[in-house]
Amino acid sequence: MDFANLYAPIDADMRAVDAVVRARLHSEVVLVRQVAEYIISAGGKRMRPALVLLSAGACGYQGTHHHALAAVVEFIHTATLLHDDVVDESALRRGRDTANAVFGNAASVLVGDFLYSRAFQMMVGVGSMRVMQVLADATNVIAEGEVLQLMNCRNADISVDDYLQVIRYKTAKLFEAAGRLGAILGGTDSVTEDAMALYGMHIGTAFQLIDDVLDYSGVEAETGKHLGDDLAEGKPTLPLIHVIQHGEPEQARLVRDAIENANREAFPAVLLAVRNGGALERARSHGVAEAEAAKDALKAVPDSTFKETLLQLADFAVQRSF
Ligand code: IPE
Ligand code: IPE
Ligand code: MG
Ligand code: MG
Repeated sequence: MDFANLYAPIDADMRAVDAVVRARLHSEVVLVRQVAEYIISAGGKRMRPALVLLSAGACGYQGTHHHALAAVVEFIHTATLLHDDVVDESALRRGRDTANAVFGNAASVLVGDFLYSRAFQMMVGVGSMRVMQVLADATNVIAEGEVLQLMNCRNADISVDDYLQVIRYKTAKLFEAAGRLGAILGGTDSVTEDAMALYGMHIGTAFQLIDDVLDYSGVEAETGKHLGDDLAEGKPTLPLIHVIQHGEPEQARLVRDAIENANREAFPAVLLAVRNGGALERARSHGVAEAEAAKDALKAVPDSTFKETLLQLADFAVQRSF
């Protein structure tokens, strides 16, 4: 399946979301506009806003609040990226120098705050306490996830379950919220709403598992990010955990040392260890299983072209190279 055609059923809606994003980026403060436009105009896959629109469509929603909520979700996502690149000391994002590399850490953190708070202004406009509750909870859990991850930097003994908790919080929670919001707008019963949320939780988990695989197997020209950023931070992601738990003792020791010392210099050796021992394939199959669980969750949702696209989106989340 081709990513360029994936959003065809929601093409007009995606353009409407883009218009909302552009309009709501506005600020009288020049630096706010510069930094926000810098990262937004670099593009991105727009998977989370697409999920809001597809979920709303699959749940029969007929109004226009889904455009605002899709933009809200993209703003929250963008704010997390601005903050994440400061925390991770990353230099490349969406094929460009990161905002922190161009404008500095302070500007990135503060414009991230602007985007978070703009998102909250926009969601108030929808006038639904339930919507605000879902987004407030998701934003709070994402922050917890990033802090949990910080606490586990250089921890080579993290369990698979603890790693999964980090990625459910930092990444899957926003996908879960996106799925749930579409269902809330559509006014579905609680079974369908929970199915859409479960779909989002699983596709988000699959998405981050593959992101962590791509940090060792991707091509920078495609991911638009530097490989090895995870190791440079001592981030114990699933490919590394597999080597430590199941690899040859020598390989396990090498990977453990690299995590504990957050040693980017060890990247070539770690790359060989994760590639040769089957650890990347194991992490990838975990991602595929999560994508299948996402598709399974949709069994409770009536058939439609939107649902068809959600099924394809789950495959894209794990087949992607960018
Ligand atoms: C990057 O997300 C952050 C992660 C959760 C891995 P995306 O890969 O969706 O970022 P863009 O919006 O497409 O650049
Ligand atoms: C991103 O995690 C999660 C959030 C932005 C909340 P990563 O640190 O793995 O994302 P990338 O690889 O920098 O995009
Ligand atoms: Mg990062
Ligand atoms: Mg990453």
